[in-house]
Amino acid sequence: MFKGFSFRKRKEQEPIVPPTKLDVNNDSTIPGHVAIIMDGNGRWAKKRNLPRIAGHHEGMKVVRKIAREANSLGIKVLTLYAFSTENWKRPRTEVEFLMKLPQEFLGTFLPELIEENVQVRLMGNENQLPSYTVEAVKKAVEATKNNTGMILNFALNYGSRDEMIQSIKAIANDVKENKIAIESIDEALFNDYLMTSELGDPDLLIRTSGELRISNFMLWQIAYSELYFTDEFWPDFTEESLRNAILEYQNRSRRFGGV
Ligand code: FPP
Repeated sequence: MFKGFSFRKRKEQEPIVPPTKLDVNNDSTIPGHVAIIMDGNGRWAKKRNLPRIAGHHEGMKVVRKIAREANSLGIKVLTLYAFSTENWKRPRTEVEFLMKLPQEFLGTFLPELIEENVQVRLMGNENQLPSYTVEAVKKAVEATKNNTGMILNFALNYGSRDEMIQSIKAIANDVKENKIAIESIDEALFNDYLMTSELGDPDLLIRTSGELRISNFMLWQIAYSELYFTDEFWPDFTEESLRNAILEYQNRSRRFGGV
């Protein structure tokens, strides 16, 4: 028997009625940070007998729609997985197309982002990116740095394992140079060395296209994120799809390991 342990009778509980409408007026129920694995561009294009890059181009237009919706819903940070450290394995023409998309996107929509008070950010290993890609995003980061609205964070050449290795090297280096003591290494300190140090962890992670995996995306940061998978391909993802994901999020009970 369990000595000194007694099962308390459960209190009669009120039935929980899940909301069926998004509660946009309640700040506390809108996820602060939403991260999206935008998957399915290739399959969307294939279904229409189009080249894969047509799917990416359509996907770029969806980025604009979803960023606008997220901003107007009051989401504080929207992180979009636009190119992973593994995506270099794709055919050269596809990689080149993907590298040019930020330029096209920001060339077209930067004035709108400025007007909507959005702050553009870049997260990933910049060194391997073509200069025209980095320059386009950096120009947008600079032009929006004084904005106070939603952070639109592009993960470009981002890989979570790569990010953690870089952080570990930086920590080791700071220990070597006596800037920090080994004893001071804890979760908060590790967090400070990550690319997301100023953004906080995602509350909600969405992946489109029916794939049920994380694909090296924010592995540390999603420890307690709510995960939402939808079968829709990214180019088919709409404002309503985003609201459905948030509605489901609002119906989840987040316990962070507690009860
Ligand atoms: C995954 O779908 C998608 C990508 C690797 C690229 C995502 C990029 C965009 C949506 C456009 C980004 C826009 C800007 C402004 C940076 P997939 O090609 O793997 O699809 P599949 O699994 O169906 O082949």
